Amino acid sequence: MKKLVGFIVLVLWCVSCVQQPVTTPTNSIDAKVTALMEQMTWEEKIGQLHQVEGGQLTPQLYSEIAEGHVGSLLNCPKHLVNDVQRIAMQQSRLGIPLLIARDVIHGFKTIFPIPLGQAATFNPILVEKGAEIAATEASSEGIRLTFAPMIDITRDPRWGRIAESLGEDPYLTSVLGVAMVNGFQGNDLTQPNKVAACAKHFAAYGFSEGGRDYNIADVSEYQLREVILPPFKSVADAGVASFMPSFNEINGVPASANAYLFKQILRGEWGWKGTVISDYFSIKQIKTQGFCETEAQTAALAIETGIDVDMMSYVYHQYLDSLLMDGSVSEKAINDAVRNVLTLKYKLGLFDNPYVDTLAQPIHYDVSHLAVAKQAAIEGAVLLKNEHNLLPLSASQLNSVAIIGPMADAPAEQIGTWCFDAEPSRSITPLMAITKELQDGPIIHYVPGLNYSRDVNTNQIERAVSAAKKSDVVLLFVGEEAILSGEAKCRARLDLPGAQAQLVNAVAATGKPVVMVVMAGRPLCIGNEIANANAVLYTFHGGTMAGPAISDLLFGKSIPSGKLPVTIPQAEGQIPIYYYQKETGRPPHHFTLIDDIPVGAKQTSLGFCTYWLDAGIEPLYPFGFGLSYTQFTYSDIQVSQQNFSATDTLTVTCTITNTGKYNAYEVAQLYVHDPVASLTRPLKQLKGFQKVFIKAGEQEKVSFKLTNNDFAFWNNQNQFVAEPGAFTLYVAPSSDVAKGCSVSVVLE
Ligand code: GLC
Repeated sequence: MKKLVGFIVLVLWCVSCVQQPVTTPTNSIDAKVTALMEQMTWEEKIGQLHQVEGGQLTPQLYSEIAEGHVGSLLNCPKHLVNDVQRIAMQQSRLGIPLLIARDVIHGFKTIFPIPLGQAATFNPILVEKGAEIAATEASSEGIRLTFAPMIDITRDPRWGRIAESLGEDPYLTSVLGVAMVNGFQGNDLTQPNKVAACAKHFAAYGFSEGGRDYNIADVSEYQLREVILPPFKSVADAGVASFMPSFNEINGVPASANAYLFKQILRGEWGWKGTVISDYFSIKQIKTQGFCETEAQTAALAIETGIDVDMMSYVYHQYLDSLLMDGSVSEKAINDAVRNVLTLKYKLGLFDNPYVDTLAQPIHYDVSHLAVAKQAAIEGAVLLKNEHNLLPLSASQLNSVAIIGPMADAPAEQIGTWCFDAEPSRSITPLMAITKELQDGPIIHYVPGLNYSRDVNTNQIERAVSAAKKSDVVLLFVGEEAILSGEAKCRARLDLPGAQAQLVNAVAATGKPVVMVVMAGRPLCIGNEIANANAVLYTFHGGTMAGPAISDLLFGKSIPSGKLPVTIPQAEGQIPIYYYQKETGRPPHHFTLIDDIPVGAKQTSLGFCTYWLDAGIEPLYPFGFGLSYTQFTYSDIQVSQQNFSATDTLTVTCTITNTGKYNAYEVAQLYVHDPVASLTRPLKQLKGFQKVFIKAGEQEKVSFKLTNNDFAFWNNQNQFVAEPGAFTLYVAPSSDVAKGCSVSVVLE
């Protein structure tokens, strides 16, 4: 009997072997990569991991490509793409195409608002559309990989790269980061009008100490898990094709050598499969940061960390072969990296066609692209103040308008940072758009007052003042030149640069109604200037179509709906200040401001609670804040069940009424608070938002779905858990939740 059973088992095993395909189908990308790698020398494999600038086809670059020593180029102009691809495809031994990469951050030719401005739209559909258009324009010039979205969370407007970020909140950044990835990549990367996206900078770059670029980031596991990593997890789950390490160290370990991030979390816990491309020189900088002694060691550290491609350090190119020979680097590390690079090239369809269609009709600045860019600039503008409903202006009731300020007609400045391919000549400035809007109408007196944002020469201010005096209303355009934000553009003082504050004060002193439009790459501490204006529209850098968008908003063709994606501090001394704050043991229920402190006050006479003597506790404007020309009220918050279990989906609804006279959009925000937990919890966390159109006098009901994960957090045992207990839910117009509705629920 035993022999019979044994025989049957043997037969079944043989049958199973015959039935199971022992290798993956030959047409699969995996199989193609395996077959190609089997033919490759180590030299050719290492070549795939080497990324260099492609700006000029020098004899050296020509020969490196022909010898299969280059895998990808960044910044290769359209007119060279087919040349370099022909060299790679026809002259190198194995004919492996090049990956052509570029920073397409907020548009390629048609420039959208800077990502911080796009975040203010709270509109993932619009953000996705913008990325899709950017991919269409960029891919038409041979670019098939963009180094975007940048999804670093930051709470520090001193950091110049806040301009590139989607703001301070992990949930908003996750939703909009995924929207950008979907816009860039679509659902089929082989489509020639799609580009591979790159999640950057992994990780904690936005926590660079002091808001000083490239500086260290010393963050707790809580901060990492709860605030910094979630957007990266979201885009990893959404299928982002590549990741990029940040320049900074995280708790003593440079990102490009950080196995905890790249092996344990990204590849291990998250199971992400894709291509990791270093930042510019970031591998070589590991030595500068004091994490190793030699340049060769930087290459060994990075490749073993899982940094597949070396952007411009040349250390893979120079050292990997010898490191492999002396056993410092494993064959597996190199093979894994090569597989990730070749897989991406197959996914992009580059082996079938790496060439640019030079005969295709140009699609740059297509009217449909400009229309979406304008809509993004409209929805990305945040109305901070509108005294006596000064806005919207009615052209028919105006005889003359003064247009003043260095940003009124600054085509290169309004497009903001990180837009190498833009043509400022295609920008439509506020002056151009308003002049067109008011043609045959009120007289326009245009006086810049200052020639550029940092201009300290005040000799034109008098002319600006006289223009204001003879006008019915002043439109004052202030802010930052584009160069004052972006990479390595950090500022310690967040004022209006140059003599702009004097310009604002001088114009306000005329007593004329002043509408101030702020065009900047970051939140600015301009409380005094805002106090001097009757209405304030914060547009960030609005891109190619900033002018028409601002004009439509000022004259009521569009209604502001933007909400702040980042807190605006009263003063730099409040930084870091953000809505996601926790309660302290001394809540600021009452405090005495510096000017109210009696002279000679005793040390114990003022009470003891958390605040600044000279700034109180509040920011200038909170996260999520933004006004409209109409007014909204929130009422009747409801939950599907008061008590819920970990497997339930909670539905939260709230009624929003448009009590004003304009049809308009409102962004209703849902915040969650866990008052008691095994770790202290933020007073509120954004867990949902709905952008809803409501006609004047009508109301709409917004609805949110919450699951167990929305109540969970990383506890002290590094577990992501939702603890039973009471929670408070808020639906509100901003993170100042007192202006909305709240309800309590209990997780059983
Ligand atoms: C830069 C930036 C990175 C960019 C890369 C290529 O230094 O840090 O965001 O994608 O280099 O330009």
